[in-house]
Amino acid sequence: MKRSIEKLGLAALRRIDPEMAHGLALRALHTPFAALPGPVTSPRLTTRVAGLTLNNPVGLAAGFDKNATAIRPLVRAGFGFIEVGAATPLPQPGNPKPRLFRLTEDRAAINRFGFNNDGAEAIVRRLARAHRTIPVGLNLGANKNSANRAEDFARVLQMARGHIDFATVNVSSPNTEKLRDLQGPMALAALLDGVMQVRGNVPVFLKIAPDLTDQDLADIAKVAEDARISAIITTNTTLDRINLRSPHGTEAGGLSGAPLFEKSTRTLAKLHTLTDIPLIGVGGISTARDAYAKIRAGASAVQLYTGLVYGGLSLAARIAQGLDVLLQQDGFGSVSEAVGTNTKDWL
Ligand SMILES: Cc1cc2nc3c(=O)[nH]c(=O)nc-3n(C[C@H](O)[C@H](O)[C@H](O)COP(=O)(O)O)c2cc1C
Repeated sequence: MKRSIEKLGLAALRRIDPEMAHGLALRALHTPFAALPGPVTSPRLTTRVAGLTLNNPVGLAAGFDKNATAIRPLVRAGFGFIEVGAATPLPQPGNPKPRLFRLTEDRAAINRFGFNNDGAEAIVRRLARAHRTIPVGLNLGANKNSANRAEDFARVLQMARGHIDFATVNVSSPNTEKLRDLQGPMALAALLDGVMQVRGNVPVFLKIAPDLTDQDLADIAKVAEDARISAIITTNTTLDRINLRSPHGTEAGGLSGAPLFEKSTRTLAKLHTLTDIPLIGVGGISTARDAYAKIRAGASAVQLYTGLVYGGLSLAARIAQGLDVLLQQDGFGSVSEAVGTNTKDWL
């Protein structure tokens, strides 16, 4: 019953402007109509990543709840962990609208939001009030007009560190000009040094782009190890345009969803051969099989966003439950046993 209400809701949302639809969906989460199954877990799904205990390895990717206004219902959606933000030190409006495009035929999206958010102060206030019954992390961003973008990441973390379970350094958003340049080894090492000095005991994750060369990946693995980064989130959206059929396929911005799956999984598998740092696989997951493929390619946990636009929030629980079955069928007693058991197919 609840699933049919969700399907009707999704069909209605698909007929309106995507950014408005997203705002409505976030607000609808607080109503009794939301199909929220509650926590999903099993002995096989329970796992530890970077010191965090997860009920299941299926997480919400950054950008869905940019302002941390829906933590409580998102926890009830069955995710094993959630990431809110990106938060920048000061509030900022982001790029002009329209800036989010639905590519229905491709099961994808293109966005060029440019870190629109309420600013770290407001977001941290909401995080402080949230009851974190599962790990909740904050995606750190930099203000567009900041005099020192590298310092922005440390500033936000310093404000948030008492109220989060992990923080993600996001130097991979394609929608803030030159932000991705901070992925270069020298700039990245300096930035991470500043962040690690203020982290307290919060594990710091690094989120990378899928548009990196093999040399870039090797450099990043080394810098991340030297900086004692706790996990690498692989990957953000791509600037590539991969065989798209939708009319919006030529819009500027970052592409997410199904067409990103292969590219992001290849990046993940390559990185898995380069480092022992735990990896979190993101990009184009919309089924339990997709999540399972990322885990077998080298991911210790996964995240998703665009799949929810097409499958609804109940997708998180369906993927976690499906993953349990797939692990069992292949004789794995736990998620961690399956991690990296099929990396070679993606190299
Ligand atoms: C509308 C939108 C906004 C996003 N905002 C952020 C963000 O603020 N910070 C970030 O690290 N990633 C952001 N992302 C990237 C996602 O977290 C994720 O890495 C990417 O979409 C690939 O996963 P998916 O194919 O499951 O969507 C955003 C993605 C979308 C579609």
